[in-house]
Amino acid sequence: MSIMQILKYPDPRLRLKASYVHHVDNQIRGLVNDMFETMWDAKGIGLAATQVNVHKRVVVMDLNCDRSAPRVFINPEIEVLDSSCVAYDEGCLSIPDIIESIERPSKVIIRALDQDGVSFQVEATDLLAVCIQHEIDHLEGKLFVDYLSAMKRQRIRKKLKKHRE
Ligand code: NI
Repeated sequence: MSIMQILKYPDPRLRLKASYVHHVDNQIRGLVNDMFETMWDAKGIGLAATQVNVHKRVVVMDLNCDRSAPRVFINPEIEVLDSSCVAYDEGCLSIPDIIESIERPSKVIIRALDQDGVSFQVEATDLLAVCIQHEIDHLEGKLFVDYLSAMKRQRIRKKLKKHRE
């Protein structure tokens, strides 16, 4: 297992659209293991393969952030069950130290494959619903800052640039 490098906004590779996984094989399971190590090392609760520059539809998650609740979603899709929105303070390992309140639908069904290639579905509310939508956005090349005003996005870009210098 190894820790991978996480791409940081505004890296253009974060804008690539991930392709579907056709075979859940050992290569994918190796990627999943590395993504878990990378996410836990960075103290995140969710990570999409896009963020480690692998453009496949793979997401890992651990809402407890402590290795106790690992979840894998391969080719995840959602259906919105309740379009009334909840606001959550969202952060992202690709946009360090930035937290913004984002509104998303509060209840969804997630359909995906697990690490054995078996399909499953789960009804999700609250943090799980928000997190899977955030991660699926990554697979589409979308980031949570895209929901903010252009002016706010500009401010965030400047702040991150200052951090790097
Ligand atoms: Ni993110």
